[in-house]
Amino acid sequence: MNVNGKPMRTIWLDAHNPGVVHIIDQQQLPHVFEVMQLRTLADVATAIKDMHVRGAGLIGATAGYGMYLAALDAPKTNIDAFLASLEQAASTLQATRPTAVNLAWACSRQLTNIRSQMAAGLDVEALIQVAKITAQTIADEDANFCKRIGEHGLPIIHKLLQQKSGDTINILTHCNAGWLAFVDYGSATAPIYAAFNAGIPLHVWVDETRPRNQGASLTAWELGQHGVPHTIIADNVGGHLMQHGLVDMVIVGSDRTSYTGDVGNKIGTYLKALAAKDNNVPFYAALPSSTFDWALEDGVHGTPIEERAADEVTHISGVAESGPAAGQVTKVRITPETSPAKNYGFDVTPRRLVTGLITERGVCAANAESVLALYPEKRTLVEQHKAVHTNSKDGGKRVVSTS
Ligand code: MRU
Repeated sequence: MNVNGKPMRTIWLDAHNPGVVHIIDQQQLPHVFEVMQLRTLADVATAIKDMHVRGAGLIGATAGYGMYLAALDAPKTNIDAFLASLEQAASTLQATRPTAVNLAWACSRQLTNIRSQMAAGLDVEALIQVAKITAQTIADEDANFCKRIGEHGLPIIHKLLQQKSGDTINILTHCNAGWLAFVDYGSATAPIYAAFNAGIPLHVWVDETRPRNQGASLTAWELGQHGVPHTIIADNVGGHLMQHGLVDMVIVGSDRTSYTGDVGNKIGTYLKALAAKDNNVPFYAALPSSTFDWALEDGVHGTPIEERAADEVTHISGVAESGPAAGQVTKVRITPETSPAKNYGFDVTPRRLVTGLITERGVCAANAESVLALYPEKRTLVEQHKAVHTNSKDGGKRVVSTS
């Protein structure tokens, strides 16, 4: 997508130095646009944990490059030590953020490829190239799959346009499932960009998405860069808009979707889905297949929910407009000094509230039968996980703290 009219991705390997990965630093947007360099596994782990990169697809792509950078630094004299060091790197990366399944998926894809090429007799130098190619493939695939999500979502918007006799289509989205959350195009935004590019009149309601405000700072910024009409709203406004016919559809992204269709996404998504159901507004989740958890049957109770630092709730950042810090990004406290705060990062929307899932293979209903009809090659995996799960039910909601 475009930044100041120039096409960009969110992550790329340096053209001249294969030991350097570039990312757009999302901590600083929308006030400052800066590209940051990652050179080591530690740089990558920090970039994910501290949300210089964020969003399921981009977390996965960054982890893919993280494994490659780890391979460059791994012991070269002993192939078993090389593999052990990469297994350790995967554990380090997976501990950074628990909810987005793309992270574990990318690490395990790297390990699977490296192990199988190792078994085929490749030496360490060749295995480093395998890690590099795998990282680039994950990134390219992410961009390509998001593009296809746009192509599959476009007819849904087109149909709404016909129902509204050509009137502007109002789409509500939550958080940032835009191109900044992926390598390119985005998931929830891909159909929006496709419709906008096709000349469909549309307008996007952008939930601010407290506490980190990814909607207000990131979605608004990227839609603005592409010229898509949008309005930022406080998180509590969506229900009112839906009651008054001002939302034609909701499209959100996902960080982890069970193969049965429960959609894990940024905290607050569930409330939007409830309001949408009550007002007969179609509610879609858009996601590439890397976001399906093929081992997860009950998303509501089985999704690991990240709990982040309380100061994301008690404080807020923005550009000071006056005073000694005028023009600078400043953090201010908005709560009483002694009041505690809780910061759950994600919630899960049960499948009964989801109109459909928009994937790179097409649109399907949010249930196991429809999802597996699109991804028949995953049936065996699902059955294997079911068998294991039957023997060791853990149950209960898992909350994982990264603070
Ligand atoms: O905490 P974040 O910013 O990494 O959360 C991810 C999100 O932006 C969303 O929940 C998004 O809708 C899904 S990620 C494509």
